[in-house]
Amino acid sequence: MFKTSILVLLSFLNLANSKNWIRSGYVYAGNEFPVSGIDSRLFTHLVCAFAYINSSNSEIYIEPSDETYMSTFTEIVTSKNPSAKTLLSIWAGKPHSSMFFDMTNSSMFFDMINSYSTFFGMINQSSHRTSFIRSAMIAARRHGFMGLDLSYVFPSTSANKANMRSFFDEWREAINSEPRKYDTPRLILTMGAMYSPVMDSIIYPVNDIKRNFDWVHVRSFDYHVPSKDRFTGAHAALYDPSSNLNTDYGINEWIRRGLPANKLLIGLPYHGYAWTLVNSNDYAIGAPAKGKALTADGSVRYSYIKWYLNNYGVKPVFNSTYVVNYCKIGSFWIGFDDVEAIKTKVSYAKEKGLLGYNVFQIPNDDADWILSTTG
Ligand SMILES: *[C@@H]1O[C@H](CO)[C@@H](O)[C@H](O)[C@H]1NC(C)=O
Ligand SMILES: *[C@@H]1O[C@H](CO)[C@@H](O)[C@H](O)[C@H]1NC(C)=O
Ligand SMILES: *[C@@H]1O[C@H](CO)[C@@H](O)[C@H](O)[C@H]1NC(C)=O
Ligand SMILES: *[C@@H]1O[C@H](CO)[C@@H](O)[C@H](O)[C@H]1NC(C)=O
Repeated sequence: MFKTSILVLLSFLNLANSKNWIRSGYVYAGNEFPVSGIDSRLFTHLVCAFAYINSSNSEIYIEPSDETYMSTFTEIVTSKNPSAKTLLSIWAGKPHSSMFFDMTNSSMFFDMINSYSTFFGMINQSSHRTSFIRSAMIAARRHGFMGLDLSYVFPSTSANKANMRSFFDEWREAINSEPRKYDTPRLILTMGAMYSPVMDSIIYPVNDIKRNFDWVHVRSFDYHVPSKDRFTGAHAALYDPSSNLNTDYGINEWIRRGLPANKLLIGLPYHGYAWTLVNSNDYAIGAPAKGKALTADGSVRYSYIKWYLNNYGVKPVFNSTYVVNYCKIGSFWIGFDDVEAIKTKVSYAKEKGLLGYNVFQIPNDDADWILSTTG
């Protein structure tokens, strides 16, 4: 009797656990991939990126060229998966530098931290915060989104912490008190943040985030990139024996500083990076490299990597020390997450009690959705 109820309880917990496991992913509106081509059944949450902040009135706006994409996003996604939740992501970084891959350029990155006054100008004044919050909620509801995401805030040490706290508290309050029909759930509120809560001049107010956001999805990738590093690197290493630049370190820091594990989504990159080797016989992780290969910044989508590997009949190596796949073709070296790396990271996230994962970005998977069916 006792045994049976334990078993029943255990299977119930298991069910509850898998039910709450979040499989989220970004879809960038500037991508040429049609929303209707996405297998939304493989995800619980799909995040449509990006809306921007108008610096003259602090309201959010959608680029006219993205208007149709965003206004039809939810309808298309839910026609295939009626229980999928959609979120509208607002870009908090420097205006018009939304290309994620550009952020791999470190000088641009620091330029961005120091000069995006639009976001800090907005949080600085109560009336601006109100305009932002109101416009964001109206935009979400108008287009059928079920949540809002704020990506990517870089709270530098000099940012006004009191204003940031007021902004987060007011946004949560507005969401909680929004007049809704009884069958309309509250808007979900999420944040896209760096892989670790403390980095150089960035420090995230973990307690204010914990109190107000449903979850945080971390950018646990792009640690080493060919536009900056003159050696081959595991850009999304789960572990790194010689540096703190790895996902496990960042996740542990978020938890150590007070964010509960069940408010964290690990980031899974659907892109890798290509380097040109100095010596094509030396192609271990950390081998000397001359710089980027294949694309303008060396970033390569997974679908293209697969095509490239098939074309050259090359099987990538899986390195379990870093948790990365890599391959060498001629003098090119590509590091990326293949099925083994993704699988290992998903198991890691489950063992750690995280809430789930967030993919960047969904359309870069191959034609069979091989990575998306892994987790
Ligand atoms: C930004 O706000 C100003 C002032 O309200 C308005 O004139 C302008 O059209 C807005 N820009 C965008 C891109 O929405
Ligand atoms: C990185 O960005 C800076 C500032 O925008 C620019 O001057 C530099 O040329 C860029 N470097 C590369 C390698 O793209
Ligand atoms: C925010 O307010 C502070 C003090 O009121 C001011 O010094 C700072 O320049 C403001 N920042 C922006 C980005 O407007
Ligand atoms: C992973 O690569 C590093 C660097 O080349 C090497 O030291 C390590 O032994 C490799 N790990 C495995 C499990 O092969």
